[in-house]
Order: sequence, then C-alpha cells, then structure tokens
Amino acid sequence: MSTRAATQGILSAESAEKREEIVELLTRAYWMEIESVMSYLANSVNPDGVRAQEIRESLQSDIQDELGHAQQFGNRIKELYGVVPGSLEFKPEQSYLQPPEQQTDLVHVIEGVIEAESGAIEHYNRIIEATDGIDWATQDMVIEILRDEERHLRLFEGFLREFKES
Ligand SMILES: [Fe+2]
Ligand SMILES: [Fe+2]
Repeated sequence: MSTRAATQGILSAESAEKREEIVELLTRAYWMEIESVMSYLANSVNPDGVRAQEIRESLQSDIQDELGHAQQFGNRIKELYGVVPGSLEFKPEQSYLQPPEQQTDLVHVIEGVIEAESGAIEHYNRIIEATDGIDWATQDMVIEILRDEERHLRLFEGFLREFKES
C-alpha cells in the first residue's frame, strides 16, 4: 500500500506554487505578530502617569493575543509544509512604536498601536483574498485573527479620541 497525499485543496501537488505564496504571506504575518509582542511589551511597561494605567493594562492583554496569533501563524506554516523561521531572519519595521522622548507621551503610544493594527489589518485582508477558493482553512483562521485586530484597532481609536479631546 503506498502512502497517499492530498489530491484536493491546498496540500495537493498541483497547488505547490500557491502554497509557497501563502507560506510567504503567513511568514510575514508571523513576524508582524512577533514584533507587536516586543513593542507592546515595552509600551506596557514604560508609560508614566495616572492616565497611563489603562493603556498599560490594555497592552498587557494584547501581548497575549498577539503571541497567540504568532503561534497560529506558525502552526499553519508547518501544516502547509513550510518551516517557521529562526530569530536571525527577523527584520524590525515598527519605527513608530519606539519609546517616546517622554514616558508620559501616551498619544505617541496610542498612535503607534493604531499604525501597527492597521498594518496587520491590511496584510490579513491580503491573505484572505489570496486564499479565497483555494485554502479555506487558512482563510478561516485569518478571518478570526482579523477580527481580533479590528477589535484592538477600535479600542485604541477610542483611547485616541479621548486623549485628543482633553
Ligand atoms: Fe495579532
Ligand atoms: Fe492586534
């Protein structure tokens, strides 16, 4: 009895090229999540002041969400016959989420988070489109993750509104 590979869907031999494209998109998503973990971790510790508390707590819980997303992206990369990259391949991009001059500058932090979440939302929409009709399982997973990012974005947009009013 010979072993049998999937003949249908994204694991089939004929989907090899598409699979590679999706693994590349997922790898970028994986790194975006890892960088968000680093940036949110720093920004959940650094801010000073009475008004910082809410932002810090919110970022503390987002760290766990983003780490969970990184794990999901990693698992899906493996399921598609890819390999999760090592740390030496990491290239930082979040210049906008570096610590501000003043640790009471919460608007800087809030705007940085909004930028990161918007970037994730854009990239995940791209994955949802690229997987349409060919990789339902990845698409389903990313739709769920997209909703988390939209929730994060909405929350920080609300913070920004309040901080800009006062
Ligand atoms: Fe995320
Ligand atoms: Fe997020």
